[in-house]
Amino acid sequence: MLHGNSEFKQDYDWDYLIQPERVHRCVYTDARIFQEEMIRIFGGTWVYLAHESEIPNLNDFKTSNLGHRPIIILRDRQDKIRALFNRCTHRGSTVCRETRGCAKTFTCPYHGWTYSNTGKLTGVPWAKGYAADFHRPEFNLGQIPWVESYRGFIFGTLNSEAPDLITYLGRAKDLLDQWIDRFPNAQITVQSSAHKMIYQGNWKFTYDNAADGYHVAFSHRSLLAVANRLETEKDMQYFAHNPDEGPMYVQYLGHGHMFIDQRPSYEKRAGAFWQQQRPQPGREAYEAKIREKWGDRADYWLDLSIGSQMNLTIFPNLLVVGNQIEVIEPLAVDRTQLTIYATTIAEVPDEVNVLRMRTQEDFPSFGIPDDMINFAECQRGLSIPEIEWVAMNRGFGISDRHHIDEDDVITGPVTDELAIRGYHQEWKRLMKADFKLTAQAVEHD
Ligand code: FES
Ligand SMILES: [Fe+2]
Repeated sequence: MLHGNSEFKQDYDWDYLIQPERVHRCVYTDARIFQEEMIRIFGGTWVYLAHESEIPNLNDFKTSNLGHRPIIILRDRQDKIRALFNRCTHRGSTVCRETRGCAKTFTCPYHGWTYSNTGKLTGVPWAKGYAADFHRPEFNLGQIPWVESYRGFIFGTLNSEAPDLITYLGRAKDLLDQWIDRFPNAQITVQSSAHKMIYQGNWKFTYDNAADGYHVAFSHRSLLAVANRLETEKDMQYFAHNPDEGPMYVQYLGHGHMFIDQRPSYEKRAGAFWQQQRPQPGREAYEAKIREKWGDRADYWLDLSIGSQMNLTIFPNLLVVGNQIEVIEPLAVDRTQLTIYATTIAEVPDEVNVLRMRTQEDFPSFGIPDDMINFAECQRGLSIPEIEWVAMNRGFGISDRHHIDEDDVITGPVTDELAIRGYHQEWKRLMKADFKLTAQAVEHD
């Protein structure tokens, strides 16, 4: 058991701090709450670790973190996907200091203990220096006990009471299917050369914002102005005028997952998605090539080249947006790294993948900085102790704005804060819950 700090839980009145339509500022500013989140939220529920396409071959690995626990996600020599704790069982050093690579073994740089990529301790320099009762299997690396993949997306948890991954994903699974199956049964490759950005604010600002259709017309004004220079209505303009009267919607999916659907703002005809995109320098040559090569089929490929117009957010750290995936990595209570990974599809023409890359440069470069400045300024604003509450009450108390279906998915107009309220309740549940977190030693032979 990694954590038994019941005192911490008693010190905080969670029902007071997380109310149905507002949360206390300390949820974003209190360093002790942050430390506890790194254990309970990033450990007590399924957390996205990596995509299988990042470790396609035997012995491939990538290093990352589960909360603040350093881990190595790998495909071992027997083709099993594991998440080992990057923590030598001798005196605690990390055993792997590369971001990614291919290795059958890891030798700790401190005193040279060597582990197989199954986690087994295989070598100790000058072994005669250890007494006869030195029992190697006890010194195998620890690992995340529950690691499961869904269509290439690898998740892990330390909580024995967590539901299975499919149950956990729930309705988010169906939306992930829709995202992957824009090209039916697509083999998605997550590109390793990611775009990393750090902002001076709490990680939950990114999570809140992922289902916030209210801010777009204001925060991303310059981006909309670019589109405005063209005379027709372009991408995201639909957020600017009375978005609640349009067909877009926001959903709280349960288990902390959220969704904004922009797709209904597009006409249902081939080519509509492509034609509604903002201008992107240099893409005309690719469009011409695709039209020449594919004729009637060109509109289909062009629609696939641009973003999905889906914003699916899987608690606590994965955003599936446009064509890219974004991973939230909390660094400190007021510091967060956001990593944006482009994706390509194995089966489509090269020109389509080039255009997808182009599209993926667009919003991360011109939109996310707008968001990040707001996150940093929220952190600054919340530093005022005397003003305590963060409001997320848009739509709250107006029951005819919302619809709840048979799976308890709540749907409302796109500017509602219903999904933000929903996931904070899941956050509270995890912060209050009694569960055991387990770091499992790699099995003995
Ligand atoms: S800390 Fe790893 S071998 Fe000593
Ligand atoms: Fe935004």
